[in-house]
Order: sequence, then C-alpha cells, then structure tokens
Amino acid sequence: MSRRRIIAGNWKMNKTPSEAVELVETLKNLVKNDDVDVVYCVPAIDICPVAEAIKGSNVQLGAQNFYIEDKGAYTGEISAPMLKDAGVKYIIIGHSERRDIFGENDILINKKVKKAFEAGLSPILCCGESLELREAGVYADWIKRQIKWDLTGLSADQVKNLVIAYEPIWAIGTGKTATADQAEEVCKLIRDYIAELYDAATAEEVRIQYGGSMNAANAAELLDKPDIDGGLIGGASLKPDFGQIVNA
Ligand code: 13P
Repeated sequence: MSRRRIIAGNWKMNKTPSEAVELVETLKNLVKNDDVDVVYCVPAIDICPVAEAIKGSNVQLGAQNFYIEDKGAYTGEISAPMLKDAGVKYIIIGHSERRDIFGENDILINKKVKKAFEAGLSPILCCGESLELREAGVYADWIKRQIKWDLTGLSADQVKNLVIAYEPIWAIGTGKTATADQAEEVCKLIRDYIAELYDAATAEEVRIQYGGSMNAANAAELLDKPDIDGGLIGGASLKPDFGQIVNA
C-alpha cells in the first residue's frame, strides 16, 4: 500500500490572529496539492480565524495542545471536544518543547493520545532524542521507550490512524538537519517497532514524519526515503518555502 504524504506546519507561538489570516492568504496558491495532506497547526487563538480562512481550500486544521478533561475548572486550558467543534482535525502531542519546557511526561502524553482519539481528533505524536542521547549511542532505545509508553493501551486500528513525527531535538530550530539517512534510520526503526508491538499491517499504515530544520532545500531528499511519509515543519512553515515543501 502507499501511504498518503502529510506535510504539517507547526506554527508554534507565532502569528497573531490577523497575521495568521495574512499567512493563510500568502500561502493559498502555493500549497495546492491534492496528493498531499496539508495541515496548519496553529496557536489556539488563531484556530477560529484560520478555520474560516482555509474554507474551500485543501488545507486542514491542526492544533498544538489541549488538556485531557472535557470541561470544568481548569483555568487557562482548552479541551479536545472544543478543538473538534472548532474544526480541528489534527493535534500535535508530545512535542519536545512541551516535554522539556512544560514538563509533560509520557504518562500524560499517553492520556492525551487516548483522549484525542476519543474526541475524534488525529494525533501527531512526536518523539525524538537529545544530542546527549544521540552522542551516547542510546537514541534507538530512548525512542522505543517513548513509543511504548505513549501508545500503551491503543488498539491497532487507532495506531493505523496515527501520525508519528520523529523530531531529533538537536535538529529543531538549529538549522542542523538530520541527514536523510539518519532520519530514515529512525523512521524505519519506529515502523519496525510498531510491527513488533502490533503487526505488519499496522506498521505499514502508520504515517511517520520527519521534523527538524526541514526546509525547501532539503525536503525532497528527506521525503524520498521509503519510511518518511511527510514532515512536521516549524520555521519554514511560516514562509512561502512551505509551498515548496508541500510540492517537493
Ligand atoms: P523547525 O522546523 O523550526 O526546526 O521546527 C521543527 C519542529 O519542532 C516542528 O514541530
């Protein structure tokens, strides 16, 4: 089977609502591609205006965070059903910035993945190692450990609908991209591990992205690899370059 490519922009904490609408407009004609899932994962406050601005286009809406309860006394939080109702389809979970800056651990991340599925959202689950772990040669074990914890209790059918983003922390926002071979090695390792945890059919269907300084110049080589089904793009998703990545 061939997996459908998915190119997602993670806007992180960038763009006010009016700037967000401007960016959608700038990218409008550049991201047209019916063979690719194109996703904008925008800040919470931009969700409603961007939902409106992408109407009638091929772009799908994503979010970057939520809390695991549906509603109640959780000041400052938003819930998965709220995202769903606002038109969100994809949700980034377990990004290294949430793990490292906001202290999210694999137990919470696993709960978020389950809640996302329950609410009808498609998780983009992030994993990846630090430079220390890569240099110590233990990155494979680290990533397997993350995947095992984060997927605990999920069915094969759920995993088939999951997107996993491999984002080596040392490549995020640093301009230091993993080589296509380094990225492929880990994406294949993740797929093989899903086969071990579930079965070959599940591993064949799960989509795996690479993320970390992906840009218009290096996208084609990365996306050409057999186990890399797309990209999760930070900095370059805020520029016209994003259109070149979608069409790489
Ligand atoms: P950059 O593309 O800016 O390196 O960010 C990658 C990332 O963290 C996407 O989630």
